[in-house]
Amino acid sequence: MSKKNTLNPVSQELTAFLSEKDFVYGPEPELYGGIAGFYTYGPLGKRLKNNLENAIRTVFNQHGFFEVEYPIIAPAAVWKASGHLDSFNDPVIICSKCASSFRADKLLEEKGEKNAEHYSDQKLIETFKKKEVNCPNCKGRFNLEIKRHSLMMKTTIGQDTEAYNRPETATTTYLPFKHYQNFFRDKLPFSVFQIGKAFRNEISPRQHVLRSREFSQAESQLFVSKEMKTNWPSFKPVENDSLLLWTAEMQEKNKKPETMSLKKALQKKAFQNQAFAWNVWLSHQIFLAMGIPNQKMLLRQHKKDERAFYAEDAWDLEIELNSFDWTECCGIHDRTDYDLKKHAEFSKQKLVAKDEKGKEFVPHVLEIAFGIDRPFFALCDLFYAKRKEDQKRILLQFPPKMAPIQVAVFPLMAKDGLDKKAREIYQTLEKKFLVYYDESGSIGRRYSRMDAVGTPYCLTIDYDSLEKNDVTIRERDSMKQTRILISELSSILQKYSEK
Ligand code: GLY
Repeated sequence: MSKKNTLNPVSQELTAFLSEKDFVYGPEPELYGGIAGFYTYGPLGKRLKNNLENAIRTVFNQHGFFEVEYPIIAPAAVWKASGHLDSFNDPVIICSKCASSFRADKLLEEKGEKNAEHYSDQKLIETFKKKEVNCPNCKGRFNLEIKRHSLMMKTTIGQDTEAYNRPETATTTYLPFKHYQNFFRDKLPFSVFQIGKAFRNEISPRQHVLRSREFSQAESQLFVSKEMKTNWPSFKPVENDSLLLWTAEMQEKNKKPETMSLKKALQKKAFQNQAFAWNVWLSHQIFLAMGIPNQKMLLRQHKKDERAFYAEDAWDLEIELNSFDWTECCGIHDRTDYDLKKHAEFSKQKLVAKDEKGKEFVPHVLEIAFGIDRPFFALCDLFYAKRKEDQKRILLQFPPKMAPIQVAVFPLMAKDGLDKKAREIYQTLEKKFLVYYDESGSIGRRYSRMDAVGTPYCLTIDYDSLEKNDVTIRERDSMKQTRILISELSSILQKYSEK
C-alpha cells in the first residue's frame, strides 16, 4: 500500500510526546547533539517494549519454538557467506554542491515516485533526470551517479579481525545448526527464535524508531523438509481462520485486498504450501497478542522484484498507522535451503538432515522476521488519542495487558491514614501487576497524568474506604468510576488486565 516517507505533523507531535512522557528519548547522544537512528527507551518505553517481548515469547513458546541467543558480532567470513557483505546495500546519490548524501530511492518516493526501492541504478538516474530532483538541503544539482552504500556496521575483533554487527538475527540463528540437531534428536521439523539487537547503517534515517540504525529484532526460523511444507499438521486446526490478504497477483491487477480463509488462500495458490501459510497465520497471532487491532493489519505478498535475495516467497504484515499509512512491520520469508547451503559451502562443514531412508538433504527454512520497535511505535501511534470534549487531554489507550503501568493507586489525601491504606493496597497489588503509587497533586491531575501514559485503571482511597474497605476504580477510556471491595480487587483487576 502507499507509503509516506517523512514524518508528518501527527507523528512529530507524537514523537515529542513520547519523549516528554519518558517512552523514547533521542536521537542519541542527545546531550551531544544526537545522531539520527539511535534512541533510548525511557522508563515507560522500556516497560512497554518488555511487555511486547513477553507477548512474543509466549506465542513462540506456545507453538514449540525454543529461544536461543547468539553473539551480536560475527567476523566477515559469516557475512560473506550469507551474502550480506556483497548484497546488503542501498543506492545513494550525492549533491554536487554541498556534498550531502541521500538514499536515492527514498528521495524519489518522497517526490511521488512509487516503488523506487526496486529500481535499478540506471532507472534511478533516469528518474532523477526526468523529475529534475535537486538537493533538499541546498537546492544544488546531484551528481548523476548512484553509489552503493553498505548497510553493514563494521567493527574490529581484537587487533585486526574484520567483523560486523549483525544486520539481522536470522543469519546468526543458523550457525549452531548442528547443535540444534542434537537437541531436537535429529528430527525435523524444529524451530528456534532469537530476540536481540541488530544494526543497519542506514544512510539518512528519518522515521523515529520505525527505521533506526540499532534496533531489536524477533525472528523465528522453522527447519523443515520440502515434503513437510505441503503436509503440515498444524495447518488443519487453523485453516478456517481468515486474514486480510493482498497477493502479488491482486496488486498487479489493481485489485483490492480480500479477507480470505487460509484454506481458500491455499486453494487459490496465494500460498505455495501449508507450512508457509501457517507461518503467516502465526505472525498474525503474534501481532494480535501484542495488542495490534485485527482491522489495522494486512498481509501483502511481495512481487517477484521486491523479494530479498534469499527469499523464494515473501509476505509482509503491514499495519495501517495514523502517521505513515500502511507500514511494513513484519516479513515472512521462505528462505529455502539458501542459508544452510551457503554456510556449508563457506565453512566447509556438512549442514544436512537425513530422511527416513538415511538419505541426506539440506533442510528448508521458513522465517518470521520483525523489528520490535515497529509494533512498539504502532501501539503508540494507534492508541494515541485526544479527548473529544477537551483536545488538551491526551490519552494512550493501550490494551491493559500491554500498558507500562496497569494500575495506579492514589490516597485522596496524604494524611489521616489514607496514605497508609493506599500503600498497603499498592504493596499487595505490585506482586501481580505493574503498579504506580502517587499522592501528589489533585486527583484530577493524577488521573490525567496516568491517562497520558496509558494506565487503564486508577484506584482512589478516600475516607469511606477506611470504613467500608473499598476503593473507587476509575477506568481510563470511559472515565467511569465504581466502588469495589478491596477483597475483590485482585481478581477483578486480573480479569481486566488480560484484555
Ligand atoms: N531476517 C530478515 C530480515 O531481517 O528482514
